[in-house]
Amino acid sequence: MATESKKDWILMATARSPTNIAVVKYWGKRDEALILPINDSISVTLDPSHLCTTTTVAVSPNFDRDRMWLNGKEISLSGGRYQRCLREIRSRAGDVEDEKRGICIGKEDWGKLHVHIASYNNFPTAAGLASSAAGFACLVYSLAKLMNVREEQGKLSAIARQGSGSACRSLFGGFVKWEMGKVLKCTKDSAGSDSIAVQLADEQHWNDLVIIIAVVSSRQKETSSTTGMRESVETSPLLHYRSTEVVPKRILQMEEAIRTRDFPSFARLTCADSNQFHAVCLDTSPPIFYMNNTSHRQVPHSFIVTNWFFRIISFMEKWNRFEGTPQVAYTFDAGPNAVLIAPNRKVASLLLQRLLFYFPPSTDTELKSFVLGDQSIVKDAGIATKEDIDALPTPPEVKDNNASAQKFPGDVSYFICTRPGKGPVLFTDEDQALLHPSTGLPK
Ligand code: ADE
Repeated sequence: MATESKKDWILMATARSPTNIAVVKYWGKRDEALILPINDSISVTLDPSHLCTTTTVAVSPNFDRDRMWLNGKEISLSGGRYQRCLREIRSRAGDVEDEKRGICIGKEDWGKLHVHIASYNNFPTAAGLASSAAGFACLVYSLAKLMNVREEQGKLSAIARQGSGSACRSLFGGFVKWEMGKVLKCTKDSAGSDSIAVQLADEQHWNDLVIIIAVVSSRQKETSSTTGMRESVETSPLLHYRSTEVVPKRILQMEEAIRTRDFPSFARLTCADSNQFHAVCLDTSPPIFYMNNTSHRQVPHSFIVTNWFFRIISFMEKWNRFEGTPQVAYTFDAGPNAVLIAPNRKVASLLLQRLLFYFPPSTDTELKSFVLGDQSIVKDAGIATKEDIDALPTPPEVKDNNASAQKFPGDVSYFICTRPGKGPVLFTDEDQALLHPSTGLPK
């Protein structure tokens, strides 16, 4: 039994976790409850100094129920995904002793103690930037630290997976593979236990890669990933072909491209996989249009409707073709944000110049709120003011084609410049905690 001289102690842990972007996509589950995928996937973990979730978890005998606050607002923990993560972590909890504070929690006590959780995403939760991946990774990691769960990171990834599939990949930094696993129905406990994330290489392995995210709209998407995946699994013949014939080979090729830092192969595979994922969405009945973001603009003598995806993909493809070898990889998840990957800082500054040329800020947007993240890329691109953006030369690959050299001010809400980053970390400084140490309520 938990022993303490007084009943008013609170024990806390605070952690920070990254988000990730898949370069071989996860789309389709073979088991909905356990979140078991129909194919392996590979992702790059994004630097948490630019995009991350911070979560504080606390336990106290004074808490009368489990509670959670997300970005300052209380949310319900009754959903199956939260319940599963909490149950899995509690069942693996160890003994915890804090001699100085006279706290002693036996592993059998955790089932009776309630937790408070506060979580904060440092980017808009609805912006389609994998917030649930960072969120569930951080939840599982911080609870595991609080409850002294002595499982290796791969085992924790299998728990985070049950909160949000792609969360399992956010338990590692660098380049990460989510192995689909083979075990489907063995015993109750082992089902899905081999569907885990493994690190292919850490964030130092290929640290000259630069990642630029174009955030297009923070509107909630029309088809949730869960619904979309289910409909694709039920109706898309292309998805069946993709998961059995395409992805197994592509995974091996992508692992090799990452191992050897072969950017042209990495870029070709990344773009092909993103395009096939969206082809699967179109092959679904009824079709899913994640790439349907259009903007309407009045030009002299006419009114045109253009498609953001068509534009950005064709700009990047034109540049790659003009140079004769891939300069940039592009990938889109189930939403309109574009993730662009350049092989090094020099190419990244040329990429940012192009992006700012085609998609300048609207007149009322300030530069400092338009390009976020690693400011040294902005500096390398020679951009210090909005006038510098206006003065950017037409990219040579579209110079002779007036129609292609069009600009689309306001299409992009903001850019984030980032890089491959590390996995979850525990904060020891109490100042970083999101819960008050004496009340256990949000600060
Ligand atoms: N979904 C989105 N953000 C989240 C977070 N920080 N924690 C848990 N679930 C989330």
